[in-house]
Amino acid sequence: MPTIEIMPSILAADMGNLEAGIRLCEQSGADQIHVDVMDGVFVPNISMGPAAVAMANRVTDLPLDVHLMLLRPQEHIEAFAKAGSDTILIHIEADCDVEDTLKKIRELGCKAGITVNPPTPVDAIFNCLEDGLVDEVLVMSVNPGFGGQSYIADAEAKVAEVRRRYPDMLIAIDGGIDLETVEPAAAHGANLFVAGTSLFKAPDMKIAIAQMRKTAEQAYETQL
Ligand code: DX5
Ligand code: ZN
Repeated sequence: MPTIEIMPSILAADMGNLEAGIRLCEQSGADQIHVDVMDGVFVPNISMGPAAVAMANRVTDLPLDVHLMLLRPQEHIEAFAKAGSDTILIHIEADCDVEDTLKKIRELGCKAGITVNPPTPVDAIFNCLEDGLVDEVLVMSVNPGFGGQSYIADAEAKVAEVRRRYPDMLIAIDGGIDLETVEPAAAHGANLFVAGTSLFKAPDMKIAIAQMRKTAEQAYETQL
């Protein structure tokens, strides 16, 4: 069984004290830190860049899962690799040669991830998977751009299809993940859970992560 991992999204942290937010994730038992990078073109919002990743890399030894919501990720992967990203995720919808960009991410010494948006059929990513270019699949369960949106359950069928074809793949789900939605997501085969709002708004992040992990582990076992 792939390991269940909880990845807080620091998009939901207090931007006035990002360092404290990252330390809180680490002290609360997070497995990785998810960093949302937005260019204001691929998505309507603008967020963090390589400097934020470099800062996170100084503050924590946890792996950094860097989600590039960029129209032209190929122009920025080198900067994000140098900043200390462990996994760099690009979107299948990006304006780039996706296979070539995934290869370059690995050449830069990082794990390569592919992300699929809610309106995109999951079949779109299977060529890259068949060619063995992908270490992590990220299924969006909200339209990217903002934290705090409602979970779109259609993502579950995509997760299940990837899990059916690739039993050992790392499959992340991102958007609207909380103690309720983590259950069906895990039951369909997700093993990595990105959660921003639900973890940062929790009265005690340590308890919230432990509960999320336990619920996910139990639900994963019952896989639909
Ligand atoms: C959305 C981002 C998500 C977001 C998740 O564009 O990719 O990672 O931060 O936030 P919540 O958990 O609040 O939906
Ligand atoms: Zn994300």
